[in-house]
Amino acid sequence: MFVEILPPSVRRLIAAGEVVECPADAVKELVENALDAEASRVEVELFRGGKSLIRVSDDGKGIHPEDIEKVVLEGATSKIRSERDLNSIRSYGFRGEALHAVSSVSRFTLKSRHFSQKEGREIRVEGGKLFPAVKVGMRPGTVVEVRDLFYNVPARRKFLSREDVERRKAAETVKEFALVRPSVAFRLYSEGRESFYYPPASFVERAEAVFGVPFEEETLEEGEVSLRLLIARNQKRGKVHLFINERPVQNRNLKEYLRKLFGTKSVILLFAQLPPYAVDVNVHPKKREVKIRRERKFTELLRKLVKGEELFSLPEVLAQREASYGPTYEVLSQLEDTFVLVKDAEFLYFLDQHLVEERAIYERTGSEEKACRGAVKAGRKLSREEMEELVKLWRSLENPHVCPHGRPIYWRIPLREIYEKVGRR
Ligand SMILES: Nc1ncnc2c1ncn2[C@@H]1O[C@H](COP(=O)(O)OP(=O)(O)OP(=O)(O)O)[C@@H](O)[C@H]1O
Ligand SMILES: [Mg+2]
Repeated sequence: MFVEILPPSVRRLIAAGEVVECPADAVKELVENALDAEASRVEVELFRGGKSLIRVSDDGKGIHPEDIEKVVLEGATSKIRSERDLNSIRSYGFRGEALHAVSSVSRFTLKSRHFSQKEGREIRVEGGKLFPAVKVGMRPGTVVEVRDLFYNVPARRKFLSREDVERRKAAETVKEFALVRPSVAFRLYSEGRESFYYPPASFVERAEAVFGVPFEEETLEEGEVSLRLLIARNQKRGKVHLFINERPVQNRNLKEYLRKLFGTKSVILLFAQLPPYAVDVNVHPKKREVKIRRERKFTELLRKLVKGEELFSLPEVLAQREASYGPTYEVLSQLEDTFVLVKDAEFLYFLDQHLVEERAIYERTGSEEKACRGAVKAGRKLSREEMEELVKLWRSLENPHVCPHGRPIYWRIPLREIYEKVGRR
């Protein structure tokens, strides 16, 4: 999807507060972005515990050149569009705040090569000032560098802890994501030396690599809900890690509860997968807590998992919430049975209806030939509904910019230009 600025009506609904207060917070945001980009490899480098440099590299899908200058703007996100999306978040990110927050308080560079492109683009932000994108040669994926965190906010910089403390917090953060996303390879370098490398693995293998002790595993799946419990008993120091819908989260009640069940000498990892509507992730500015709707029911389920009792269906007890929804764009009309005209916040788009469909089929099937033959909308009059459907389809594309053969899917004119041309500004 495109990167767009969330409208104020949605931004008002997002849990407000400080996003980044220490290097580990920045690491968390950058690793989340890499994972949202479907990276299979995430590399984190720290110097001076992250105080002088944090570099996060991934091999994910990258950022399109059209979008790259937008990603550091406040409220800029490709992950949600509307209020309704807040009820079913499937990505780590949704606020469009992280890169804005980090880049305003550091010397920041981001370079990225979108998977559809032959080269990358790099942007630089210093003291909140954005320098225009320049071309760079690089592999597909994204590399973000955050230097001198809080160099321009001395009061904040003063409150950072000692290097070794910041280093440990940042390393813990990477490990948490490594635990919950074992199919992704993670590497951490610190002060120029490799601290750890975890190759792709199963949940148990990954936990064993991180903690260096054997784990037992129990899993339970019921409808849309699945629970996975990993336990290493009789350890010197017990610990509880909670992951809900792949997010590392804090929840005192749940932790206490697990400690009671398994004793304080166990390392306990609970991975819970619930339908997105059952979990409110928009309750904490750093996304470190989530609210489980009907939490009591959830712990009841957990007890059943542990005791091996029969499970009833959680989805039944979690009522789905619907909210109002309004698109941010406007479908205007069709031109010459070939183009659909759409007005967005800043642009007038001429969408090639055939190419949109071709791209969609290509993304579904992976076949250019099928896409070519399957796309039927060329030269056809479309009804209002068909146009709306087409635009929705376009906006959901992985790559909404070019068709499988590399032709642009749309031509667009900045509205500003139209205003200027008629002397209205
Ligand atoms: N590593 C990356 N790979 C690909 N795209 C990225 C990457 N990092 C950022 N982006 C793009 O930049 C946008 C802005 O990132 P940012 O982290 O600021 O916001 P977000 O992830 O959408 O929401 P949140 O503030 O909750 O993290 C993302 O929505 C995404 O489109
Ligand atoms: Mg993010």
